[in-house]
Amino acid sequence: MSYESEFRIWRGEGGEGGFTSYRVEVEEGEVVLDLVHRLQATQAPDLAVRWNCKAGKCGSCSAEVNGRPRLLCMTRMSTLPAGEPVVLTPLRAFPSVRDLVTDVSFNYAKAREVASFAAPAGLAPGEYRMRQEDVERPQEFRKCIECFLCQDTCHAVRDHEENKAAFAGPRFLMRVAELDLHPLDAAAEQGLDRRDAAKEEHGLGYCNITKCCTEVCPEHIRITDNALIPLKERVADRRYDPLVWLGAKIGLR
Ligand code: SF4
Ligand code: F3S
Ligand code: FES
Repeated sequence: MSYESEFRIWRGEGGEGGFTSYRVEVEEGEVVLDLVHRLQATQAPDLAVRWNCKAGKCGSCSAEVNGRPRLLCMTRMSTLPAGEPVVLTPLRAFPSVRDLVTDVSFNYAKAREVASFAAPAGLAPGEYRMRQEDVERPQEFRKCIECFLCQDTCHAVRDHEENKAAFAGPRFLMRVAELDLHPLDAAAEQGLDRRDAAKEEHGLGYCNITKCCTEVCPEHIRITDNALIPLKERVADRRYDPLVWLGAKIGLR
């Protein structure tokens, strides 16, 4: 059964703008992105929105629905409060480009700051061998679609512009955690201690385990419990346990 809904959409450029209200017909089973497309096709042909797959896999359609970071294509209208306006705003933590589109290049800059996997010296591709449990452990992290909803919601970024230079955010600390656990990663032999880097370069200490990142992740990755807290524990072990510190120094990880 169809019904009419009010949409209040932030329209503007470069951070300057305001809300415009629209009334639009909603069909059963539709998601928020369907309604944005209907508005583009009828009342607001110049409404800017970023999207691609409409299947929750490309991570492009990130925005805020009623103040909560969401994928527009995975937010069913039936899950929103009936009879209330649907408020759409761009991701708050990143600079506005136009309407619902933000400039997420902060995240690409942070991605580049994480040193990539370092192949062990003397092993040719195809000679790498890993235990099944080492393959399975980071599998959860590799489901990330880089929607940056976790980056948008983390208060250390969202409410503190001044932290951005020093804090990589949950998505990229998760990447550091994944590489730190990789049994073939030879970064340490090449002079990069990933645990020191987590603390000194990627701002692990800014995370105070609020778990908001985990709550908004559309892939249901347990970012805090499975990546950030264990990484914090490994960093603390390294720092305070003299045997662990000595083992690290002589190459026993
Ligand atoms: Fe999106 Fe989850 Fe990846 Fe963060 S960890 S970027 S919320 S998929
Ligand atoms: Fe931020 Fe997630 Fe830590 S929301 S404070 S990175 S647990
Ligand atoms: Fe690809 Fe929404 S359009 S995740």
